[in-house]
Amino acid sequence: MNYAETYQKSLTDPEGFWREQAALIPWFEAPEAILDQDETGLWRWFRGGKLNTAYIALDQHVLAGRGESLALIYDSPVTGVIQKYTYAELTQWTARVAGGLTDLGVGKGDRVVIYMPMIPETVVTMLACARIGAVHAVVFGGFAAPELALRIDDAKPKVVVSASCGVEFDRVIPYKPLLDSAIAQASHRVEHTVIVQRPQLKAEMIQGRDHSWASWLEAAAPVDCVPVDALDPLYILHTSGTTGKPKGVVRDCGGHAVALNYSMQAVYGVDVGDVYWAASDVGWVVGHSYIVYGPLFRGCTTVLYEGKPVRTPDAGAFWRVLAEHRVKTFFVAPTAFRAIKKEDPECALKAQYDLSHLQYQFVAGERLDPATYHWLKSNLPGIPIIDHWWQTETGWSICTNMVGVEPLPIKAGSPTLPAPGYDLRIFDEDGVALGANTEGAIVIKGPLPPGAFVTIWGDHKRFTESYWQQYPGFYLTGDGGYRDDDGYLYVMGRMDDVINVAGHRLSTGQIEAVVADHQAVAECAVIGIEDADRGQVPVGFLVLKDGIQIDPLTLQQALVQMVRERVGAIANFKRALVVQRLPKTRSGKILRQVMRKMIDGEVFTVPSTIDDPAIIDELRERCLQEGVVNK
Ligand code: COA
Ligand code: AMP
Repeated sequence: MNYAETYQKSLTDPEGFWREQAALIPWFEAPEAILDQDETGLWRWFRGGKLNTAYIALDQHVLAGRGESLALIYDSPVTGVIQKYTYAELTQWTARVAGGLTDLGVGKGDRVVIYMPMIPETVVTMLACARIGAVHAVVFGGFAAPELALRIDDAKPKVVVSASCGVEFDRVIPYKPLLDSAIAQASHRVEHTVIVQRPQLKAEMIQGRDHSWASWLEAAAPVDCVPVDALDPLYILHTSGTTGKPKGVVRDCGGHAVALNYSMQAVYGVDVGDVYWAASDVGWVVGHSYIVYGPLFRGCTTVLYEGKPVRTPDAGAFWRVLAEHRVKTFFVAPTAFRAIKKEDPECALKAQYDLSHLQYQFVAGERLDPATYHWLKSNLPGIPIIDHWWQTETGWSICTNMVGVEPLPIKAGSPTLPAPGYDLRIFDEDGVALGANTEGAIVIKGPLPPGAFVTIWGDHKRFTESYWQQYPGFYLTGDGGYRDDDGYLYVMGRMDDVINVAGHRLSTGQIEAVVADHQAVAECAVIGIEDADRGQVPVGFLVLKDGIQIDPLTLQQALVQMVRERVGAIANFKRALVVQRLPKTRSGKILRQVMRKMIDGEVFTVPSTIDDPAIIDELRERCLQEGVVNK
């Protein structure tokens, strides 16, 4: 079947389409239904099916005689280690870690928070949770203690697994003090932690609560895979929404396994024995889907890279890994290539490496700007540069060029066409479908395909209200864009207050909550403005309380420090401007999108509901003075 037939079948006969894909994974018990709705009207895939995610990722390959094939390559230029693990080794290790978790009282449905750097223990802990039916909630290592505390309180874990430190370029980042502080701030009581003591730094342990990974594992006995229901949760992954409180995206086991297994071949063109590398972080959805689960489901070798695109040791780092491990498909965020391009504009370092195994270059996580696309195209001749668009919520690509089905012509700036099961529409504010070349809200007609999220942890109301309420029956992606005459999608950016900083999804509300906490600040707006390196960076606009006298630079420094401590350095919050007033509607809503477009030099319409249109000009003047306006 070509792409058009494949896609059509997925819409006209979704059950038939996904039944075929479901047959490719090993079930302990086949599903009773492929697709149906529960009593609340929620669509569910593969009800009644029994399976185990770790079994699909590991054991099935060993049982099929592929135990000696490479499952994981850990490549860590920051520590100088390269370590390879076969499927048999990873299975045995996972079974032991699962046993260790069981010893700490973790059972099916219990949560385990994982706050760890990019080390093999992280992957194994995720798989060990899956092995015993426990639900993992991985927290990206770049988040500060209060963000970790929020996630601990939301997930209420029995155990937190962490490490003594991470390594960022040549800097050792102690994790344990952050973990201790988060546990102290959280209301939920964490009974046990397990800490990987890394050679770079030894963490102080709290007797009775903290267990050292090495001795804990030594005492553990391996345990078998626990069959779970297809509808049981596999993991929670917190992501930024429009408010300061992160949303715990919940993925179920059945749909996840079927969709990711399918996507490896159909989307990425890889199969058993191929080497696949997603240079992301396990703390993000890309890491979950395509460092850990997807490649292992399909029997590929996955690369776990603890390094950066540059300075580890140079801007040739990616080319070195691609060549050394013979990677066939590579996936990374455009921001990483912008970092390389800045340091090695001619891409001279690539010449030292043999990239003959590389067949596909995928990018996602943020808009692929034309300059980066053309730079990649000219420096990777003959290799398709494939932009694909997806979200934490969907777990795999919504729009992509399906090289394993039928490679389609690439149009710069577009992630091509919808993947199977995604019935896209572009809506105006009233829910009227817009024709070609007209920009609006990108929505997806329900049901979403397998692998997409099924609820928000502990807050199903938020799931309904945030995603399904505005246009009933349609999932609101939060992104705006249009389709051209050939149906190719162009994603123009978020329509809400979510921003994307160096491939990291953040909420401006999250940062605003911190800024507003400063005693001098009466009110504030944080917006994400265009940035040549990081895609977007947040900038704060603040109005001071009456009578406050404070040096603006001192205030800015204090706010920058507060955001680093409470959200994390990854927020890249560096600028805060004091202004006289903020543009608002008469009902008091701050016009953040108007501010952003004005600063980025985009066309914008001032809503008729604005309180005082003069504020926009006033603000523009101020931004020009401060050099904040982009164009
Ligand atoms: N743990 C602790 N701190 C972290 C961290 C982590 N995992 N990741 C980033 N940070 C810190 C950085 O050290 C830096 O701190 P500093 O301000 O004290 O220097 C800060 O957060 C900002 O980081 P970042 O914006 O990432 O800048 P950088 O210079 O460290 O790296 C890139 C730039 C482009 C190399 C990096 O942003 C990158 O690789 N991005 C891709 C992200 C990605 O893959 N996202 C997944 C989407 S698919
Ligand atoms: P995350 O949930 O962290 O994966 O971030 C999802 C958001 O990143 C999307 O809603 C988009 O705004 C943005 N995004 C991801 N991939 C792309 C892409 N290929 N093009 C444009 N934006 C993207």
